[in-house]
Amino acid sequence: MQEPIKDSAYFIEFAEHGDERGHLVVAEGGQDVPFDIQRVFYIYGSDATIVRGSHANRKTRFVLVNVAGSSKVRVKDGLGNEAIFCLNRPRTGIYLPQMAWKEMYDFSPDSVLLVLCSEHYDEAEYIRDYDKFLQEVQQGQQG
Ligand code: TYD
Repeated sequence: MQEPIKDSAYFIEFAEHGDERGHLVVAEGGQDVPFDIQRVFYIYGSDATIVRGSHANRKTRFVLVNVAGSSKVRVKDGLGNEAIFCLNRPRTGIYLPQMAWKEMYDFSPDSVLLVLCSEHYDEAEYIRDYDKFLQEVQQGQQG
């Protein structure tokens, strides 16, 4: 990967290779997505009452795309900054850096949330307690 690691969340607009036969979006690691993709998972069957996530990852960076339906993602950096992203288009994703607290919610019934990951799954790199997350962010700030 050539690009420097970015440390805040942002929207990614994917190029669309559509023609009269329909639409095609490519997410190629290191090009359309700013990391090599090690893992893909997707979330569906959630609804407007469900909150998923509620964790941060010490290492993994993510790109999330609602390839069908819609959802919202609340992102906190542990320093007082918070952003809410609405995902409602198959060609628009969000990039999440490591050490971002994330909550996914307000899923439409047809939501399929595709998640591209920079790392393989490792439960040990998850922080599932918000106070612990704040503590680790503070420790990171102190070097
Ligand atoms: P969880 O982290 O709770 O999902 P979410 O981030 O959407 O809230 O994961 C649900 C279950 O799936 C949990 O038992 C861990 C497992 N899991 C894997 O085995 N591999 C994976 O890559 C992921 C994301 C989850």
